Amino acid sequence: MDSSTPCLDFAVVGHQDSWENIAAFVNRLRNKSQGDLSLQKIKNIFPFIPARDLFRVKVNSKTGASINGVYIDTFIEPDKLNTSYLRSNIKKVHDGIACAKKMGAKVVALGGFTSIVLEGNFDSISTKNSKFTTGNTLTSAFIVKSIEKAALQKNVDLKLSSLLIVGATGDIGMACVQYLKNRTHKLLLCARNEKQLKKLSDQLDDENIENDYSISLRDLIPKADIIICVASSNISEISNCKENVIISDAGYPKNLDSKVENNFDLIFHGGMGQVNFGFEFYPDYTDSFYQYP
Ligand SMILES: NC(=O)c1ccc[n+]([C@@H]2O[C@H](COP(=O)([O-])OP(=O)(O)OC[C@H]3O[C@@H](n4cnc5c(N)ncnc54)[C@H](OP(=O)(O)O)[C@@H]3O)[C@@H](O)[C@H]2O)c1
Repeated sequence: MDSSTPCLDFAVVGHQDSWENIAAFVNRLRNKSQGDLSLQKIKNIFPFIPARDLFRVKVNSKTGASINGVYIDTFIEPDKLNTSYLRSNIKKVHDGIACAKKMGAKVVALGGFTSIVLEGNFDSISTKNSKFTTGNTLTSAFIVKSIEKAALQKNVDLKLSSLLIVGATGDIGMACVQYLKNRTHKLLLCARNEKQLKKLSDQLDDENIENDYSISLRDLIPKADIIICVASSNISEISNCKENVIISDAGYPKNLDSKVENNFDLIFHGGMGQVNFGFEFYPDYTDSFYQYP
């Protein structure tokens, strides 16, 4: 792709969350006659690919307006998202941002883990010609609306329910708190930093919002009718839940591993929406990207 294209409306900087997705994508790019690359070969090559644009995106509105963008992959390895790889991941995110700026993107959206990697520290990024967004507002809206929908489907009255938010003091967790605080019976707040939890709890007390908080997930889980997981790290243990608990795992990558998921009836991947119309990809790789329900 011509990287000197003037004035792209937007760039999305992202990463893949599974080797399966990556393998499907890489092998989709290959000429059929070359055959598929083995997963091991892909794993050997992938980390050395510099951040780069992969395809263009055109988004059309109902009114006929359209904007043009590009998807830039950081080539962060899906199994190296934890803090031990922070330094190299930050570098990859910065490389993705540099690529977006070089292409003249007016708005740069930091998708998935790329915004977490920067931990809200955008001071290091020059925002002179490009504006930045994490898309967290949209994610939060998807989460709370899907909770309302799931509760309706399961005949669960939100007004009588205790809602546990794991990652309550985070960007998305706080947005969920704000929206759901007057729509639930009680909020249960969990994170690792007790001081921040107490601060949030005190604010809710001031507003007469029923709440409880703990750094121990174990203490809160048995009291929860509904659970939203929006922590920025993996939650290894989730047990002693109420029967029929509704769980939305909106972490990205997922907070709960698939073994945990199999134990519950109503668990879903919150925070994601599927847009079926109004966009075009060039080339069109939709069949090998984002296979979430
Ligand atoms: N579904 C989507 O499309 C989508 C889009 C954007 C982001 N996300 C995901 O949403 C999650 C949260 O994003 P964010 O921007 O809100 O992050 P954030 O601002 O960094 O907040 C993370 C929250 O998780 C807490 N936390 C981290 N590890 C925890 C643990 N082991 N147990 C309990 N709490 C823990 C943090 O508090 P302490 O540090 O005090 O523990 C904080 O409250 C991330 O996984 C992100 O990738 C999903």
